[in-house]
Amino acid sequence: MNSFTYHIPTEIVFGKDSESQCASLICKYGGSRVLLVYGGGSAARSGLLDRLTGQMEAAGLACETLGGVHPNPYLDFAREGVKKALDFGADFILAAGGGSVIDTCKAIAVGAASPDTDIWKFWTREETVTKTLPVGVVLTISASGSEMSDSGVLTNLEKGEKKGLNTPFFRPVFSVLNPELTYTLPSYQVACGVVDIMMHTMDRYFNPDTANQLTDEIAEALLRTVIHNGAIAVKNSHDYNAMSELMWCGSLSHNGLTGLGGQKDFSTHQLGHELSARFDVAHGASLSAVWGSWARFVYKTDVNRFARFAANVWGLRGSSEESAAIAGIHATEEYFSSIGMPTNFSTLGIGIQEDEVLRALALGCTYQKTRKVGVFKVLDEPELYEIYKAANN
Ligand code: NZQ
Ligand code: ZN
Repeated sequence: MNSFTYHIPTEIVFGKDSESQCASLICKYGGSRVLLVYGGGSAARSGLLDRLTGQMEAAGLACETLGGVHPNPYLDFAREGVKKALDFGADFILAAGGGSVIDTCKAIAVGAASPDTDIWKFWTREETVTKTLPVGVVLTISASGSEMSDSGVLTNLEKGEKKGLNTPFFRPVFSVLNPELTYTLPSYQVACGVVDIMMHTMDRYFNPDTANQLTDEIAEALLRTVIHNGAIAVKNSHDYNAMSELMWCGSLSHNGLTGLGGQKDFSTHQLGHELSARFDVAHGASLSAVWGSWARFVYKTDVNRFARFAANVWGLRGSSEESAAIAGIHATEEYFSSIGMPTNFSTLGIGIQEDEVLRALALGCTYQKTRKVGVFKVLDEPELYEIYKAANN
């Protein structure tokens, strides 16, 4: 095991009706003026928004709302949110939604705490985050893991870039997880979440540090749990047990637990972010569309690792390690297809792309040739191009 520090300060309140504790949690973490942020309308339609604002009022908390966060959330919207938080004098930012809303809240919170800095400078690493307002979460979709993660992802439309930033200041102070709040999700979004949860785990599992028995076994158990319950949830989003398992898997998949003691690869995430930035496709779908192409490109780096994945996640053994590895990749893609997720550009809905687009995507992954991607197999621009090319059918 490599050395690590593990500190997850997020208080989790899990279960039916847990959102009714929101106001008291906000008070506990020192909030009195709350900016409540939500997305394109699902939180309003489900009645969640009214319940939350009613609760704030009853608790004597001042509350302003800010709706309209777009999936793959926009930098400009977060900038507007910073302004609104400052004008209102917010001392607490509450997210009611999924990764896009939560990440917008994280951006607003660090922006409002450092009003003289344009927030994008944190994402370009020109500035370092040193403080934040507290962020609380009422989660409505199991997917991003942002409710416990140290990460925030924004899309800069002007530059055509989608970038992540990691800082301990991004961990929410609390997250309320009520699986019933995910009942209204369309099947497609449930499936996108299943892929994302799997991929947070797999982007850690496939790494060069293989002496991590406990971490690996946690990752395999999480994957088996998501795969089993994901198949149920896409058919019936009102299955409390399946939606519960997905919700807790989502949080654990990206709070660091499934990769402790190892390095993070995250090539698939980077390949997907470029697709979302250019084509505005859902995050989970962007990942399943390229994973198989990535896996076939890299598996020879450590065939044993892929054979272990096939055996312990899919229960597959082959006549050789190589055949087992291939069978595991195939099973993963079959599963994606079975839950309605894409495995290439056509099924992603973006069609076959010109060669110059593939090259631009690969260049974007390397932040214009300023870095390489991944650790399982370190990938440079020409290799990333080959992976996109393999998915371009
Ligand atoms: O906007 P509304 O109307 O709420 O609709 C949303 C949106 O259209 C809908 N939705 C959410 N909860 C719902 C619901 N519809 C009906 N009922 C509900 N209960 O679902 C759609 C997708 O929402 P979004 O928040 O975009 O989904 P997700 O949670 O997958 O978040 C994706 C974003 O998170 C980033 C992704 O890159 C993407 O930008 N990620 C953030 C991470 C982090 N901060 O740690 C890690 C992830 O790897 C990921 O990169
Ligand atoms: Zn993700």
